[in-house]
Amino acid sequence: DYDIAHVFIVLGASGDLATKKIYPTLWWLYRDQLLPKKIFFIGYARSNLTVDDIKKKTHKYLKVSNDQTKLLESFFNVNYYIQGNYDDKDGFEQLDKKIKELDMCSHRIFYFALPPTVYKSVSSLIHLHCRAAGLTRIIVEKPFGRDLESYKDLSKHLSGIFTEEETYRIDHYLGKEMVQNLMVLRFANRIFSTVWNRDNVACVTISFKEPFGTQGRGGYFDNFGIIRDVMQNHLIQILSLVSMEKPVSLKADDIRNEKVKVLKCVRELKLENVVLGQYEGDPDGEGEMKEGYRDDPTVPNDSITSTFALAVLYINNERWDGIPFILRCGKALNERKAEVRLQFRDVPGSIFTTPNVIHRNELVFRVQPGEAVYMKLMSKEPGMLFDCHQTELDFTYGSKYVGIDLPDAYERLILDVVCGNQINFVRSDELYEAWRIFTPVLNEIEKQKIKPIPYRFGSRGPKEADELAAKNNFIYSGTYKWIPQKNK
Ligand code: BG6
Repeated sequence: DYDIAHVFIVLGASGDLATKKIYPTLWWLYRDQLLPKKIFFIGYARSNLTVDDIKKKTHKYLKVSNDQTKLLESFFNVNYYIQGNYDDKDGFEQLDKKIKELDMCSHRIFYFALPPTVYKSVSSLIHLHCRAAGLTRIIVEKPFGRDLESYKDLSKHLSGIFTEEETYRIDHYLGKEMVQNLMVLRFANRIFSTVWNRDNVACVTISFKEPFGTQGRGGYFDNFGIIRDVMQNHLIQILSLVSMEKPVSLKADDIRNEKVKVLKCVRELKLENVVLGQYEGDPDGEGEMKEGYRDDPTVPNDSITSTFALAVLYINNERWDGIPFILRCGKALNERKAEVRLQFRDVPGSIFTTPNVIHRNELVFRVQPGEAVYMKLMSKEPGMLFDCHQTELDFTYGSKYVGIDLPDAYERLILDVVCGNQINFVRSDELYEAWRIFTPVLNEIEKQKIKPIPYRFGSRGPKEADELAAKNNFIYSGTYKWIPQKNK
């Protein structure tokens, strides 16, 4: 298919996502010659723009080195822009005309970098006026609805006009190196498969922490909150990869069948298993840290939207029954970190007594920053004594694969779409399950107008979250801290 011309259409070309992520990604793929030889890009949005404006707007995100200016020129030479509305056919007819001018039989890929309110009209207009003679593929960004009902409605609409093979629901966490590695580490290592169950694991924690606030995205964020923004998608996707059974093969549908199967076993989240937080400014902090969530001018002064959440989920199957899966995510926290942490049960019948405190083993998959897998374990203190101490086995990418550049998540995923590979895209039944798990609690929070607990910008989040994790068998000893290699 690489010999056939492809046209990549960025819908919402003037927006934040297109500027910061999509155009840069397209440029990197073009620069690295990973795209079909005959490729064209068309931006589509309501604003009156030119390709030159897009070039200027995106420039600081493209990371162009001095020797790439010519190549950049040729990239923008195959870029076009069409101004049009999202709800009338004129713009889409014009778009179709332009695509045909470029190549009559091209494959067409449409990226929805759009507000969800226009998904329905845009998808219908593409279907009616812009279908390709070759393949048509649509890439849809989250949020796919706000709850189970709105999800079903949108999904019914989309599946009425596009087949599942044509639809790529993107969750960019599935494009991250360590998230992809979960499958290999789990299913290509005998030592892991034997301990990956309720008999050995005490709890699993999946964390997402960001040290910055909403950064001007408050308008969007306030409508959704952290559970919908991060937990219902990125963290649930990770949970399914960590907890699923081994797929029959590496085919997209075999993998997704297993993900759906385990998600079906996840019980609906209960309010008593949730802690919500909202950040406040730190008067002693620097710059942005002084500002609380509600100081963001795009956020209502009385907003009770959560910027932090910890939730405990249970998987009702033979492998995981009774084991807490603790999902934690938050903005304006003390560090940037995304990781999966399996904490193992205590050693039974320990022969090591005081002063030898035996700490639990932990296996950590650090998604970012600084991809690593490490295992906390006990070892003999080197030397004459026979004391135990806590140390680690450390597989840090930065020191193992020196000088290797990992591709950005969006790069991988857009390339997957060009190649027709759906492994790393979310199938509609996965999303259905994800909404089923969270919708009752989201409704409850809205109905009862539950106020999030305030926490300070730059802190670990509300202390109640740590308490709920502790109640769910997560033991934080704080005795040994893994230091990322580059800082060692
Ligand atoms: C997005 C969320 O999906 O993921 C953002 O909407 C969040 O709120 C972002 O900041 C995090 O992505 P990454 O790749 O920077 O960890």
